Amino acid sequence: MELIIALDGIDKKSAVELASKLSDQVWGFKVNDLLLEEGFSIIKELRKYGKVFADPKLHDIPNTVKNSVKKLADTGVSLITVHASGGPRMIEEAVRNSSGAEILAVTILTSFSPEETSAVYGVSNTKDKVLELGKLAESAGAHGIVCSPLELELLKKGLKKVYFLTPGIRLSRDTSDDQRRVMTPKEAKDGGAKYIVVGRPITESDDPQLVTQEIIKSIT
Ligand code: C5P
Repeated sequence: MELIIALDGIDKKSAVELASKLSDQVWGFKVNDLLLEEGFSIIKELRKYGKVFADPKLHDIPNTVKNSVKKLADTGVSLITVHASGGPRMIEEAVRNSSGAEILAVTILTSFSPEETSAVYGVSNTKDKVLELGKLAESAGAHGIVCSPLELELLKKGLKKVYFLTPGIRLSRDTSDDQRRVMTPKEAKDGGAKYIVVGRPITESDDPQLVTQEIIKSIT
């Protein structure tokens, strides 16, 4: 299993500094707000230290998503996210235009509580909806699925072609932030995740290298 660091909520200087420190330890780095702030130049900068996962969570008409995916793929990113709820035609268009990059479909955000899932998707059972969105994305050709580690077991049974990437990773089950459906790195590994994404437990730590080492130790 590979470890990806989410470089969220920090500026370019801190992100590049952190990436250079963790370079040898991790698969690569995920960018979201930094991509908006710095544009594609941040991808080229981070490529010096590892692979890059662009996480814009695209959700738009197929043609607009095609344009964004094409330009992102040209920068040398390895992974790009779209929302599964954007529908099959949108996902197919993303996959067709992803060149060397792989398309990951986000099912339901790991921050969603059952109440939020019900308000947004009109269902009371999060897992059923996650499986439905996962199947839709797999049939449309997505390479991987982004899901909560708590949904790995269900998705592994129901889907055959895709791999899984899980955010919502915490070193213990207690979480005081916005994440709700979380697991530890070891639990995600045992559940069959190909990649885990860890953000704040590392970026907000006083010693990011030590926390990274601890995570790696717990999964090797
Ligand atoms: O800081 P934390 O470890 O919670 O970061 C998790 C990262 O994964 C964030 O960048 C968030 O946008 C992303 N993500 C998520 N849940 C999803 C998809 C992506 O938390 N379903």
